[in-house]
Amino acid sequence: MKKILVTGGLGFIGSHTVVELINNKYDVVIIDNLSNSNIDVLNKLETITGRKISFYQEDVSNKEALRKIFAQEKINGVIHFAGYKAVGESVSKPLMYYRNNIDSTLSLLEVMEEYECYNLIFSSSATVYGNPKSLPIKEDFSLSTTNPYGTTKLFIEHILNDVYISNNKWNITILRYFNPIGAHKSGLIGENPRDIPNNLMPYIMKVATKELDELKVFGNDYHTSDGTGVRDYIHVVDLAYGHVLALKNSISGVKIYNLGTGKGTSVLELLHTFERVNGVKIPYRIVERRPGDIDACFASCDKAFKELGFKAKHNIEEMCLDAYNFIKKNTN
Ligand code: UD1
Repeated sequence: MKKILVTGGLGFIGSHTVVELINNKYDVVIIDNLSNSNIDVLNKLETITGRKISFYQEDVSNKEALRKIFAQEKINGVIHFAGYKAVGESVSKPLMYYRNNIDSTLSLLEVMEEYECYNLIFSSSATVYGNPKSLPIKEDFSLSTTNPYGTTKLFIEHILNDVYISNNKWNITILRYFNPIGAHKSGLIGENPRDIPNNLMPYIMKVATKELDELKVFGNDYHTSDGTGVRDYIHVVDLAYGHVLALKNSISGVKIYNLGTGKGTSVLELLHTFERVNGVKIPYRIVERRPGDIDACFASCDKAFKELGFKAKHNIEEMCLDAYNFIKKNTN
């Protein structure tokens, strides 16, 4: 498998995965409609990798555009990142989320079948575990969701299972991400939301650069060591490399893996680590819980380690250093 189509390849996780793919001698073709990414990322990817990258500014739901790409590029496999991902927005605009995330995946699968390309890696999320009954979370835990964004991920997982049942030529890998943060060491690519961030690390980054005044910590009465929410933060470069391992190990079936570190970190631990390693102050205030948030969530990574040889290498300190390095270089 040589040539990989990356949908949403200019986004946060997509762009880091493009770098790891090229580092591992894959040819990469990117399709991205720039709805939540910036064309500058393409130049930055070319700077980091020293390679010219084929890019199509198209929507994944556009089957004609996909057919042209498949006809022209002779794609061997696809990594599907493209999709809307803001939890709160998905609650207020569910139809937009279902239409975009499901429709684009159906178009992609149909065109892949037409071109007999049966290798797919799908970008899913730990959100499909809902509120887990115990920790760490294993891949065979029961699934449920708390918002339309999460439900699109779960529906797509079901669709992929049915597609495999219909034709067992498919090699499908579903990767359930925990909380990716950090950035490439170069500081050229990273996460820089256009609007006020929903997620913790992007918010901390904007407080660090004084674009926002203070972090609001959503609740300190959770059943955790310091009362603040605990999550499994994983360096985006480790996560990206997980896709390379998934490609190398693709076999017939639907394989499902958690990608995390297996270690939980609280909001205050992350915040204080960020302050310490970067020598900056992050003012914060404890406020009400955010609706839908759970106490703690971290992965069992045993399956990904046993079957893919996956193990995250970066610790929380490095995640905080790399995130700050990126935001300093990309803030006016
Ligand atoms: C969220 C989504 C999840 C999605 C993931 C993508 C929810 C309920 N879940 O996960 O579906 O896959 O993002 O990365 O939104 N926090 C603060 N202040 C903030 C922001 C966050 O205290 O300004 C806290 C949260 O309460 C939580 C932790 O930080 O305890 C992490 O939050 P976040 O980064 O939004 O990730 P998740 O909620 O785990």
